[in-house]
Amino acid sequence: MVIAVDGPAASGKGTIAKALARHFGLPHMDTGLLYRAVALNLFRFGGDPASEFEATRACDLTSISLDDPELRSEIVGSIASRISAYPAVRERLLDRQRNFAGQAGGAVLDGRDIGTVIAPQADVKLFVTASVEVRARRRVAELLSRGMPAHLEDVVIDLKARDARDSSRVTAPLEEAVDAIHLDTSEMDIDAAISAAIDLAEKRLRDSVDKLNPV
Ligand code: CDP
Ligand code: CDP
Repeated sequence: MVIAVDGPAASGKGTIAKALARHFGLPHMDTGLLYRAVALNLFRFGGDPASEFEATRACDLTSISLDDPELRSEIVGSIASRISAYPAVRERLLDRQRNFAGQAGGAVLDGRDIGTVIAPQADVKLFVTASVEVRARRRVAELLSRGMPAHLEDVVIDLKARDARDSSRVTAPLEEAVDAIHLDTSEMDIDAAISAAIDLAEKRLRDSVDKLNPV
C-alpha cells in the first residue's frame, strides 16, 4: 500500500504523513528533506542557487545528515524551493524516492509531486492545504519552538514566494492529482487534521476494495 501526501509549505502534510505511517505500520519518507539537503550542501560549499550546474553537483548527499537541524531553517527551505525547479536536480533525486515508494509492503511519502510524479499509482492520495496566514502562524510557532528566529510578516512573504515558485515551475509543479482527496486544515488543530486524514484514507481504501469486489 502506498500513500501519497502532497501540499504547500507548513500545511501539516509532514505531521499527517508520519501519523498515517504509524497508523498503517508503514515506513515514511519526508521528500522535502532531500531537497533541503541539496540546498544545505550547496550553501555550505558556497555554491550559487542560480546555477543549475552547481545545484546538480550538490546532489551528492554523502556529507549531509538528514537529522541536521539546519535543514529546517527558513533560508534552507527557500534555497530548496529555488533549486527544486531544476529538472536535473529532480532527476537526481528520483530513484531514491521511487525505490522507497516501491519497497515491498508499501510506504507513505510526503512532498509536492508524490501523487503526480513519484507514485502516480498510489492507493491513497491526500492533498493537504490551509490558508497562507494559518500556515505562517504554524511555521512561526514551529521555528520559535526549535529556538530559531521567526517573524510573522517575513514568513508570510516567504511562504507566498515559495508557493508561487513551487506551483509555477515547469517540471513537477505543486499541483493536486486528479484523484487526490482534498483536505483543508485551516480550521483544524493537528489532532483533528490527523484523525480526518486517517478517516479519509480508510474510506478510500474501503471504496477501492468494494470496487474490486462488487456484490
Ligand atoms: O516543510 P515545507 O513544506 O516548508 O518544505 P519541504 O516539504 O521541506 O520542501 C522544501 C522545498 O523542497 C519546497 O519548497 C519545494 O520546492 C521542494 N520540494 C519539491 O520540489 N518536491 C518535493 N517532493 C518536496 C519538496
Ligand atoms: O510538512 P509541512 O511543512 O506541510 O507541515 P508540518 O511540519 O507537518 O507542520 C508544521 C507545523 O504546523 C507543525 O508544528 C504542526 O504541528 C503544526 N500544525 C498545526 O498546528 N495544525 C495543523 N492542522 C497542522 C500542522
